[in-house]
Amino acid sequence: MASPQAITVRPFHYSSTGKPTLFCGQRSLESLAREHGTPLYVYSADQIRQRFHLFQQSATTSRQTLICYAVKANSALAILQLLAAEGAGFDIVSGGELERVRRAAPEALGRVVFSGAGKTTEEIDLGIQAEILAFHVESEDELSLLAARAARLRRPARFSLRVNPDVFAQTHPYISTGLSEHKFGIPIAQARRIYRAAQAHRWLQPHGVSVHIGSQICSAEPFGAAIQRVARLVRQLAADGIVLQSVDAGGGLGIDYESPRAFDPAATVSAYRQAIEQGLGNLPVSLVLEPGRFLVAQAGALLTRVLYVKKNVRRTFVITDAGMNDLIRPALYEAYHEILPVAPRTGRTLPVDVVGPVCESGDFFARNRRMPPVLPGDLVAVLDSGAYGMAQSSNYNTRPRPAEVLVQGREARLIRRRESIADLFAPELLP
Ligand code: LLP
Repeated sequence: MASPQAITVRPFHYSSTGKPTLFCGQRSLESLAREHGTPLYVYSADQIRQRFHLFQQSATTSRQTLICYAVKANSALAILQLLAAEGAGFDIVSGGELERVRRAAPEALGRVVFSGAGKTTEEIDLGIQAEILAFHVESEDELSLLAARAARLRRPARFSLRVNPDVFAQTHPYISTGLSEHKFGIPIAQARRIYRAAQAHRWLQPHGVSVHIGSQICSAEPFGAAIQRVARLVRQLAADGIVLQSVDAGGGLGIDYESPRAFDPAATVSAYRQAIEQGLGNLPVSLVLEPGRFLVAQAGALLTRVLYVKKNVRRTFVITDAGMNDLIRPALYEAYHEILPVAPRTGRTLPVDVVGPVCESGDFFARNRRMPPVLPGDLVAVLDSGAYGMAQSSNYNTRPRPAEVLVQGREARLIRRRESIADLFAPELLP
């Protein structure tokens, strides 16, 4: 029996007594489906806390570190509240996400960093008024606007330039951001000049420098390479008399979707932290980290019921009541998600396509995947869906979005009710 302290890769496991059935922590997924219906996102609060603590405890030096959870990965208010209670700050990319932090944990507004290449005037004003920790500025135009708004509101605005270090992140092209061909950040060679120019603005306060090279990065090396370049810039600026307090290394630490049994979360974070510390050397700065996926992906699953099993000439399709509008990662990035039957049947495994009801051939969760036999009415769990699952869901095909539950011990709390069809029509107007 695993001790409560054991580092788990996932909170989902089969019961060890009786007929095997899938649990999230101490709650059976069958009971959750009965109570809340399907499709249903199920998250483990304990697992999210455990991942957060892993990050917190991975320090190899006494450097002051703030972990700003990337809200975009899973922006459920209940999850933000849970993380804020553990001391998390937040990385946000919109006025909407700022409002989420305000509602879930107003005391954490001072621990917010605001990223994103296209902030509007309204969003900048909201951030200044909320006295967030820092704006991550991505262009000279944005810096001018920030200066103008801060002057107008007569409030100081702390900023870090987000630099583009021109480092290859070794990940899917859609989620790689640190090369000069990408729209993100300011070329690192221009940063020194821009920091110098910003000194003329009374209301602008240079706080630090930030970098984010991409997502689902499974090797520590690109992080180290990016931070080395950032550290060089911080030293050059110090020589110019501009002393930055903080380096923000962004997010991006990946998980192993395909072979979770070989994945060691503690060793992964520790190698990552070490690479960053090595890059920083003895630079006297605090550190901000912006993990999203690593904290929440493996804590969540999308629970869905099989509607039909259809055999065509070449393939067998398992059609579920969840679709690409509920979890778009396989369709958008050809992402792999392990799928487990909740109550596995005995019999030969067969290759099947697990697909949703949406009218697109891209609406699949798995193709040509060997699974034990499944029948209409069975439940299956699409694993590692806690990050960029619900957060990227939509109402495509006028489908109401799933409910979400957060499991803690034996308790499962509904943290978002299922949308009704009436909810979907609320903003629409007829003459
Ligand atoms: N900080 C910034 C500035 C970011 O843009 C992101 C993610 C993060 C932090 C968090 O990255 P993470 O630790 O989660 O890798 N939808 C895609 C991932 C998009 C990531 C966008 N930026 C997916 O499902 O794989």
